[in-house]
Amino acid sequence: MKLLEVKGLKVIERRTNRVLLKGIDFFIQKGEILGVLGESGSGKSLTGLSIVGLLPQNLQISSGEILFEHKNLLTLSIRDWLKIRAKEISIIFQDPLSTLNPVLTIGDQLEEVLYYHLGIKGGEAKTRIIEALKEVGIPDPHLRLKAYPHELSGGMRQRVVIAVSILLSPKLLIADEPTTALDPSIQMQIIELLRNLNRERNLSILFITHDLGLLRWFAHRVIVYYRGQIVESAPTESLFTKPLHPYTQLLLNSYPGRKGDALHQKVFSFSNDLFADTQQRAKCYFYERCPLRKDCDPSREPKMISVTETQAVRCLLYECQ
Ligand SMILES: Nc1ncnc2c1ncn2[C@@H]1O[C@H](COP(=O)(O)OP(=O)(O)OP(=O)(O)O)[C@@H](O)[C@H]1O
Ligand SMILES: [Mg+2]
Repeated sequence: MKLLEVKGLKVIERRTNRVLLKGIDFFIQKGEILGVLGESGSGKSLTGLSIVGLLPQNLQISSGEILFEHKNLLTLSIRDWLKIRAKEISIIFQDPLSTLNPVLTIGDQLEEVLYYHLGIKGGEAKTRIIEALKEVGIPDPHLRLKAYPHELSGGMRQRVVIAVSILLSPKLLIADEPTTALDPSIQMQIIELLRNLNRERNLSILFITHDLGLLRWFAHRVIVYYRGQIVESAPTESLFTKPLHPYTQLLLNSYPGRKGDALHQKVFSFSNDLFADTQQRAKCYFYERCPLRKDCDPSREPKMISVTETQAVRCLLYECQ
């Protein structure tokens, strides 16, 4: 069953009308881990922020629907949306310190959430908090209750953030690069933790990353972003064995670390100003960088095409077949 469905989501910059998300369509099933893959600036975070209604002030959703359990969040009253946001959808970010309050102990932060949303305090709160800290793998949770965020390691802090985020038993967790700032071994522990939460709680996870390798054993399906559009969507196994979009193929070729590769250099040495749309004449946004473009007409706009029942691609090379 679909838990979340995003349809035709467009996000623009208010002042300039610059289009940052150009019509995003995807869904996530109950209990599914969906990977969102794409390079810096491709629109991954804006997608997550749109879902929880936390877009920066200067941006706005100009069209589209965000259906959560078939209710369009964008047409709900602010009160109802806030309720869903607080209890049913959680979001965590790369930097745990941006979420944790530096002047409150870990115990107090968790208790605040329980009291504010469920009116639970005292002994019952303490029991629940210790359970949550245990569930996210914090050793000696009794002792940690009195610790302040700065007294914990980066990995432990991210575990605390995850404990906060599951305290109200949400159905969807949006994890925006939650492991990017951590050492590789700690990174894998956090991935393992998220996978356990997915299995044990049937928690759906939208996992945002620019690291293809992280998704391989973790995500059930992956959507690939390129410059504010989804260019491929596939079950993880198919994405790794039969990538369809030339961009996905290049991502796979350049992993793990084939940075000396001539083709990789050619494709990845372009300017990082990915949204310089004024210079962009082709309607395929990957045209300039595409090693397979020679047979394509740049004035045609690629549409998302289902190549199999579960795999779709936005590429002109697949449109005439
Ligand atoms: N507040 C803002 N005002 C104007 N442009 C913005 C704003 N926030 C993001 N953008 C632009 O929107 C585009 C998408 O940004 P987004 O943060 O979603 O990228 P991302 O895929 O999450 O990248 P990263 O991997 O670096 O986190 C980028 O070009 C970015 O510069
Ligand atoms: Mg981001």
